[in-house]
Amino acid sequence: MYRTHYSSQITEELNGQKVKVAGWVWEIKDLGGIKFLWIRDREGIVQVTAPKKKVDPELFRLIPKLNAEDVIAVEGIVNFTPKAKLGFEILPERLEVLSRAESPLPLDPTGKVKAELDTRLDNRFMDVRRPEVMAIFKIRSTVFKAVRDFFHGEGFVEVHTPKIIATATEGGTELFPMKYFEKDAFLAQSPQLYKQIMMATGLDRVYEIAPIFRAEEHNTTRHLNEAWSIDAEMAFIENEEEVMSLLERLVAHAIEYVREHNAKELEALGFELEEPRLPFPRVTYERALEILADLGKTIEWGEDIDTEGEKLLGKYMLENENAPLYFIYQYPSEAKPFYIMKYDDRPEISRSFDLEYRGIEITSGGQREHRVDVLIEQIREKGLNPESFEFYLKAFRYGMPPHGGFGLGAERLIKQMLDINNIREVILFPRDRRRLTP
Ligand code: ATP
Ligand code: AMO
Repeated sequence: MYRTHYSSQITEELNGQKVKVAGWVWEIKDLGGIKFLWIRDREGIVQVTAPKKKVDPELFRLIPKLNAEDVIAVEGIVNFTPKAKLGFEILPERLEVLSRAESPLPLDPTGKVKAELDTRLDNRFMDVRRPEVMAIFKIRSTVFKAVRDFFHGEGFVEVHTPKIIATATEGGTELFPMKYFEKDAFLAQSPQLYKQIMMATGLDRVYEIAPIFRAEEHNTTRHLNEAWSIDAEMAFIENEEEVMSLLERLVAHAIEYVREHNAKELEALGFELEEPRLPFPRVTYERALEILADLGKTIEWGEDIDTEGEKLLGKYMLENENAPLYFIYQYPSEAKPFYIMKYDDRPEISRSFDLEYRGIEITSGGQREHRVDVLIEQIREKGLNPESFEFYLKAFRYGMPPHGGFGLGAERLIKQMLDINNIREVILFPRDRRRLTP
């Protein structure tokens, strides 16, 4: 083994003991009679101090020949001393070069030389070496763990549904078509129909974490063509409020979990993540339009709240309610997909909601229409043909409990949680209009 300890694991109890550290050459300083070397690993930096009189002459000569970003392993003695910037240093006994880095580097991993996002994404392997970029992906990993833990704690079963599908669910315009032998098929925009079918199985509460594919034509800072969706569906609900209540606890848990486990990463990002306060305010669509009208932005009843409106509302909710997270609910039925249930007494509004985080939608959800005759009617109303949904409708004909659920965009959640500008920052290898490699 080349490594016995990560940089962060070297504590005072190890003073005087032998350790092995390994990583990338961060910096070299040559003062003639003494040479310094900083090695970066996943957890931080270690200093290697090589005084001429105390180290092997061959090792001493090797240090200045190293390049930034060479991969090396060092075995040496831990020495805690106030003279070292990090409080300790390693006096090397052996140094092995495991892999050489060419020069010049395509990117400066120290971040001193700024690079465009495109250059960074083209060289993602090196971009992630920067501690503040690595921090995002450590936080992302924590979020996924928190989400899984939460669902299991709430009695949800993880399911996996097909990503090659025959029908659209979220409006027909954003599909990636593909050839499936003699048939036409699409990449799944959402597990919507399948997670609903699962409600007819008796599993009752299911979740899925998987990619969704959407052929978004435009280049925006919040759309990806391949994104990760956290989907949930639950049966035997009486109203959409039960789903909203679960979702807000899920999001609050994820934020709390990151606050608890990623203090170091949040510090690397220079970001203070506020403690979530439950419940998140609930703003009806109608009330949202009133607030926007007062702010000078008119949206006709029935229209979608556009990007500018969302942003304005986000600012308003933060300033007036101190709420970065809030629901907009009871959207007009015409603005929502066929599977959403309408209010029986007011069919123009639907049992739907979006969860907004700092003025951007991170989730859509609602109670579903489980009465098959009503559902067929709603499919027709949207100009779709019920025949192409037969495999789905069938599950509603032999005992389908009332149910509801949501789709939470993982990248949207993480982007908004960390107040990051561009969604591409929070996914390793983004797929957008122009980007298919790496
Ligand atoms: P859905 O498309 O199912 O409503 P979504 O998660 O894709 O859900 P968004 O794309 O965030 O939702 O849509 C919110 C609003 O953002 C839309 O009402 C629209 O005004 C605006 N919007 C959507 N797509 C784009 C785009 N490609 N470019 C600019 N604005 C967009
Ligand atoms: P919707 O279409 O609103 O709803 O999508 C749900 C959530 O998925 C995320 N999302 C995206 N993230 C990044 N890039 C994209 N192109 C993209 N498109 C969507 C967003 C969005 O809020 N079936 C319903 C959900 C449900 O009712 O259960 C659906 O797909 O965070």
